[in-house]
Amino acid sequence: MRVAVYLPAEDKTQWWVDMLQGLLPGWDVIPVHSVDDPQSIDFAVVWRPRTGDLARFPNLRAIISIGAGIDHVLDDAALPKGIPIIRTVGSDLTQRMREYVALHVLRHHRDMPRQLRAQAELDWHAIVVPVAGRRTVGVMGLGNLGAVAAQTLAGLGFSTRGWARSAKSIDGVECYAGAGEFDAFLDGCEILVNLLPLTDDTRGIMDASLFDRLPQGACVINCARGPHLVDGDLLAALDSGQIKQATLDVFHHEPLPTDHPFWTHPAVTVTPHVASQIDAETGGQIIAANLLEFARSGTCADVADAERGY
Ligand code: NAP
Ligand code: GLV
Repeated sequence: MRVAVYLPAEDKTQWWVDMLQGLLPGWDVIPVHSVDDPQSIDFAVVWRPRTGDLARFPNLRAIISIGAGIDHVLDDAALPKGIPIIRTVGSDLTQRMREYVALHVLRHHRDMPRQLRAQAELDWHAIVVPVAGRRTVGVMGLGNLGAVAAQTLAGLGFSTRGWARSAKSIDGVECYAGAGEFDAFLDGCEILVNLLPLTDDTRGIMDASLFDRLPQGACVINCARGPHLVDGDLLAALDSGQIKQATLDVFHHEPLPTDHPFWTHPAVTVTPHVASQIDAETGGQIIAANLLEFARSGTCADVADAERGY
């Protein structure tokens, strides 16, 4: 079997090639730019493939996304139709995301940005916040990552809600489903976490109309995809005080351009798409297992629904 690997950074591509080659003895793993016989490629392992890269391989059996989202593959305007797209998910990814969500929800809950400002001013300023049970937090998206994030927040004692497309039952989490229950979900949410996939239905969902449906002074955390957020609407909501603080891990353009106002806005925390980034060691094992299973049986557990977009 021959596997072609592509990531935007060449050193990272080589890192993943070496890792996968070690885990797949007898297979041939090569960077996309070294493929001289496109017909021989069975699988492509990619992050943000360039338009047309995948269309070069006429005998492709499956595309493996190095990550949970498949939007970066579907973005390729020349993507060949009907080829299964396999997500890379696992306990490592969910654990990293639960750490990130817990950290930033607690940070907003305890108003750490204001506490740190007080320290900078040598000001002994005690900020007393409600106990977690009297703080309502909401998680949009209750899939692999969102469900675990919501369970973690409920475990910390927060009054926790979740929203998904279909009805769910998660211990300690009040679950809402579908567009019809979106308003009820948002009403009273003081800290909102986004863990939706990027699809036609969810693009731009974090806009002025959403911010207006949250209580005044709510905080938002976007750790899903940049295009979920309408940047200008967030900046306006921060300036008006409708939104107090935002933590953003993902952006329309990554790296976030140095002249983007988010970098220097006092109420915005920027992290560089690290909420739950899989590494070649753990990710390589998951991908190698999926490739072996797919080569053997023609399918595997983590095949996404490309029509649905996630
Ligand atoms: P997932 O397992 O596919 O779950 C997606 C969830 O979103 C499901 O609960 C789904 O509802 C819900 N959903 C989809 N469309 C919806 C809609 N229109 N309205 C309401 N709910 C909707 O995805 P995941 O593995 O949890 O990952 C979620 C996203 O996180 C990824 O797509 C990726 O963009 C992002 N991510 C970011 C990082 C990072 O480092 N920042 C790392 C990994 C992933 P149903 O359950 O009813 O289908
Ligand atoms: C990262 O953003 C992922 O989709 O896994």
